[in-house]
This record gives sequence, structure tokens and C-alpha cells, in this order.
Amino acid sequence: MRRLSLLCCSLLLSYPLQATQVEVMHWWTSGGEANAVAEIKQQWRAQGGQWQDFAVTGGGGKSAMAVLRSRALAATPPTAAQIKGSELLEWARLGLLRDLNDLAQNQRWDLRLPGFVRSTLSHQGHYVAVPIGIHRVNWLWFNRDLFTRLGLVPPRNWDALQALAPPLLAAGITPLAIGNDPWQLTILFEALVLGEAGHDFYRRAFINLEADQLDSPTMVALLQRFKALRALVPQRFAGLSWNQATAMVVDGRAAMQLMGDWAKGELTQAGLPPGSNIGCLPAPGNDGIFSYNIDSIAMFSLRDPAQQAAQAQLANLLMTPELQIPFNQKKGSIPALAGLPMEQFDSCARQASQALAQAQQDGHLLPSLAEGMATSSYVLQAVSDVLSHFFNDPNQTAEQASHRLRRAMLAAR
Ligand code: BGC
Repeated sequence: MRRLSLLCCSLLLSYPLQATQVEVMHWWTSGGEANAVAEIKQQWRAQGGQWQDFAVTGGGGKSAMAVLRSRALAATPPTAAQIKGSELLEWARLGLLRDLNDLAQNQRWDLRLPGFVRSTLSHQGHYVAVPIGIHRVNWLWFNRDLFTRLGLVPPRNWDALQALAPPLLAAGITPLAIGNDPWQLTILFEALVLGEAGHDFYRRAFINLEADQLDSPTMVALLQRFKALRALVPQRFAGLSWNQATAMVVDGRAAMQLMGDWAKGELTQAGLPPGSNIGCLPAPGNDGIFSYNIDSIAMFSLRDPAQQAAQAQLANLLMTPELQIPFNQKKGSIPALAGLPMEQFDSCARQASQALAQAQQDGHLLPSLAEGMATSSYVLQAVSDVLSHFFNDPNQTAEQASHRLRRAMLAAR
């Protein structure tokens, strides 16, 4: 209560409270995600605001973005939307997003946000979104009881991961929980690239888009291994959502999942302390590398002064520690605001926060390809399409896939 009243009064100074209504588009629809977004709604309502939820199911946000585009084309965009990474710049270039520099200056965002967060959110020197949390993408989640029961050790490299397949399958357990959705497959591939070929190759291929890396022998070898992982996935993996895959690890039908730490939100929501029975480790070979995904909320350029005031009020709320701490505890991420205390977070979040600081120091903090932080959405789409066709086509060779990857990525550039 005290926390909320402090929050309300500090905001009162800059924005008179009014019965403001916001319509917010997002794709936080799994149990854990809904639990996190409920925190925002509750704090917003405590300030006298009204919240109209515009939630579109689908991990990675592809469906949400399609729906948002049609709303924008119909000239009826929502007040605010979950837009992130390179898509922010794509929307900003169309002139559809509100320039938040006035708010940012008043609230000294430059001093409160890490540099890589500032640059992700800025278009030509202007903030175009409010950051809310930082996810680590390259994690391995594993069912500890199951590993102990079968006398197995969680894998620290990809050979070890593949070697787990025979004993797990013999015990009737799916080694790797994943759905056959291009976005989930790209997350798996990203962890594999970072773990096997390292940060330098990743940077050259997926950030710099160096043509000769895209069908290099290294890429062919990565694709070969990627295809071999097909033997580890659930028998019915078509249509399996990322959170259904997490549930398989939780109840022991599957041993592992490679997924960003929004998976942790599912654990918290189910009352399971992250890091205990469901353990978190850097994805195999990914020690010291932090692949990041920054969640952010963009505001649309709207003429209505009441809506503009509501946007400012919402932006300010999202930038408070009082919001970011409980939101990120539930979401599985860590706050985007720099320097917040991590003691009240679970052990995986504390690990993430330390890994981020270390990776930043070592130059191993990398934008996630799968999460649209590393390339344009067009290049990402090209990569995901090639990967998902390849994964599902038993006749396509890794060499063929690498040529397709090169062609498709360069054409989409
Ligand atoms: C978003 C996360 C979300 C995840 C699964 C990612 O693209 O950044 O906030 O939890 O998709 O829906």
C-alpha cells in the first residue's frame, strides 16, 4: 500500500490523475505472462486509469504484429503496443510512433537506462518506446529430479546434449521440449550457433550479415547438427506452444527446453521456485554469452490530448522501480532500469543479472536474432522460414539450406 501511495503521489506531481483509458496491445497471454501484465493493470487502475486489454496470442509476437498492422492501416491504432527491437525502428520510420524525448528528458531516462537499452529504443536520437524488462534468451531449462533419477548430467555442450537422447528416449521421455513453430526453432538455432560457433561467428553472420559466412562450412556444420536435433523433439510437436513445452519439462514428460527466461514466468506462476526442481543453465556452450531481448512498449502518435496525457502517465508508471521490480519478478526477466537491487529476485534472475554485467564487460552481450534484436524483421523472417523448412524436410541437405539461407538473407537485407 505504502509503495503504491508513494508511486501515485510522485506521479501526481507531474500528471494530474484522471480517469484515463488506455488500450494496450501485447502478446503476454500465457499463464506467467498474464500474471506479469496483471501487475501493470493493477498499478494502472490504482492510479485511476482504465485498461482495455488488446491481447493477441502467439509467442514471439508474429500474430500480434499482423493484427497491429491492420489496426494501423485502418488508422485506429491502440494507445500503446508491445513493439520491440528492429520493429520499433520500422514503425518509427513510418512516422507512427510518438517521440518520447520530452518525457525521457523530464525523467532523465539517459541516466537510468543502460547504453544498449537506450540505443535499441532510439530512432534518429529519439526514444520511441519505454523499456520494461530484459530477457536472456540463451537458457537451458531442465527437470532436475528427472536427471537425478536417471543418473544423468545436464549438458554443457551440444555433443553432451545429443548424447542424452538414447537414455531419455529409452526411459520414454522427450529429450527436448519444443513446438514446430519457426520462432521456437530460431531460438534453438540461435543457442546452437552461439554455443558451437561462438560469438564472433554469430556477430559476423547474423549481425553484420557477411555473405561468405552464411553458407560457410561452419554454417553447414551448424545446420547439420540442427537437423539432427529433430530426433529429440516431441512426437507431436506441430502446434505445441512454448509454454506447453515448458509444461512438459515441469511435469517430467520432457527433460529440457531451450527458451528465453519468460519460461521462468510459468514456474513462478505455478508456485515453483525457479532454479530448484526446474534448473536454469546457460544454453550448452553459451557460458559468458548473453543474448538479450528487451521488452518495450511503444506509444502511437495520437491527436487526442487526453490520450497523449494517458500515454505519458503510462510511460512514467512503466519507468518506475515500483512497477519494474514486481513485473519482472513475475515475467522472468530483469528490470530494464539500471542498478535496481536484485536480492528480491529468484536465483536464475540473479544469475542473469550477473551474466549480463560480465558479458557487457567482455563484449559478449549480443542482440538476439530470434527476438528481432539483431536484424530487421525481414531478415529474421527469411532466416526463420529457411530454418523451419529445413528442419521439416527430410530430403533437404544442410548445404542446400545454407545456400538458401544466404540467398534469402541477402535478398531481405
Ligand atoms: C517477448 C516476451 C514473451 C515471449 C513469449 C517474446 O518475443 O519478448 O515478452 O514472453 O515472446 O511470448
